[in-house]
Amino acid sequence: MSIKTVSTQPFADQKPGTSGLRKRVKAFQQQNYLENFVQSIFNSIKGYQGKTLVLGGDGRYYNRQAIQIILKMAAANGFGKVLLGQGGILSTPAASCVIRKNQAFGGIILSASHNPGGPDNDFGIKYNISNGGPAPEKVTNAIYTQTQEITNYQILDAEDVNLDDLGTWQLGSMAVEVINSVADYADLMASIFNFELIRNFIAGGKFKMCIDSMHAVTGPYAIEIFESRLGAPIGTVQNATPLEDFGGGHPDPNLVYAHELVDILYGENAPDFGAASDGDGDRNMILGRKFFVTPSDSLAILAANAKLVPGYSSGLAGVARSMPTSQAVDRVAAELEIDCYETPTGWKFFGNLLDVGKATLCGEESFGTGSNHVREKDGLWAVLFWLNILAVKQQSVEEIVQEHWRTYGRNYYSRHDYEEVNSEKANTLMANLRSLLPTIAGKQFGKYQVDYADDFSYTDTVDDSVSEKQGIRIGFTDGSRIVFRLSGTGTQGATLRIYLESYEPDITNQGTDTQQALDDLIALSDEIAQVRQFTGREKPTVIT
Ligand code: G1P
Ligand code: ZN
Repeated sequence: MSIKTVSTQPFADQKPGTSGLRKRVKAFQQQNYLENFVQSIFNSIKGYQGKTLVLGGDGRYYNRQAIQIILKMAAANGFGKVLLGQGGILSTPAASCVIRKNQAFGGIILSASHNPGGPDNDFGIKYNISNGGPAPEKVTNAIYTQTQEITNYQILDAEDVNLDDLGTWQLGSMAVEVINSVADYADLMASIFNFELIRNFIAGGKFKMCIDSMHAVTGPYAIEIFESRLGAPIGTVQNATPLEDFGGGHPDPNLVYAHELVDILYGENAPDFGAASDGDGDRNMILGRKFFVTPSDSLAILAANAKLVPGYSSGLAGVARSMPTSQAVDRVAAELEIDCYETPTGWKFFGNLLDVGKATLCGEESFGTGSNHVREKDGLWAVLFWLNILAVKQQSVEEIVQEHWRTYGRNYYSRHDYEEVNSEKANTLMANLRSLLPTIAGKQFGKYQVDYADDFSYTDTVDDSVSEKQGIRIGFTDGSRIVFRLSGTGTQGATLRIYLESYEPDITNQGTDTQQALDDLIALSDEIAQVRQFTGREKPTVIT
């Protein structure tokens, strides 16, 4: 087996976004495209010779081919060992768990998360560092610099590796160990939550639940945890077989794309609890009977009830949320007298806070919640957290949420997405909005008076790194907010995200429909940013 050095030329479009590099599969299939990016990762990190790399993906189309290429490149570049998820599959939180447990040098995760899969859809790749979390910006910037300077890459001239049988194979001087990551991950969950209590709660037969893996990566993990270890009836986990195209669906657990689960939870004889996770298993959606829990509320409720869970019984060091996430958790933090950090969008910004013990729980409005047990958001962990709380409190999901609102007030919250907008127009909209900021501060719009209007800039309290232009925030004196930002994960045109939030402390006004409660702010967002005019769209593509 010999090492080949292959000449190549840079691709201009390999800048990692919110979560790694995401493109159409067809882009990744271009000659040298994947190889360039992988070599750029290796070129930007130092000291990995002889060390261990964790590798796996969400099983989407092109996963297996990409794994073979990466294995041969890792061997040619001098890694000592690759820990590979069986079949090339690892959920994102499980990959984080495996990196940490084995003190690996880092990991490569192949996923485009909740984006659809298949030959005409998306693929993605990201690098995680030794703490198990997504590479911070200084690393992703270095990778990007390498992609723009690359002249050649190294790959082993070898036969394909057996990805499917557990065991250790030799690839040149590198070992490839195919591991069962489901067991490691399930053990970690059992060390955090009260499995015995949850098991008894489910065994009583009164409580019924339905878990939807959306034909994506969590199927095997969910079956092991909920059906095997916690004794839920067979069939509790639906769409449990991971498919390369997620069954043609859009593996994004929200009210729009997880409609199969939504229909069950809003139908006749609905179960008490429902949950779904996304393509790579880091997102979650929580439903009660005919009841939806917004991710921002979910984070706040987990924080408020963390003491009920063995893994957090000694309390939380602090909490963190991404800037556009609602401020519901801030109120819980104030009550608990712990710090609440506001970071830019994307999980990579939580890593430092978790590493130094400033935050224990983190979350984003985009159906992502997690804690210091790994360095990724974690879908099934969030489901177990809810089950643990339900088993202790013996209340319905709706009762728990309403009790929370009564105590802390309700943060009405919604995100309006305009997908596949012409990039130039979206950029002009943002530039226009930015130029308006100095004139907006202090201004009165109907009943709303602007408290602050800025472009969010974040200084990491641990390493002092600064991230600018992370979203335009317009905050009003009554605590309401409108946030505008462009997505960093889309692969087609631009996606404009508008985040709307208002605060309602009065319990008699907490039962309004969310869109209705946010009516005025929705109209105001259009008035200020001229959304319809710039995008040419009458309404959002997706409302969550
Ligand atoms: C989106 C979400 C963000 C999340 C990311 C990866 O990024 O908004 O919260 O961390 O996906 O799952 P965006 O497309 O908004 O850049
Ligand atoms: Zn995901």
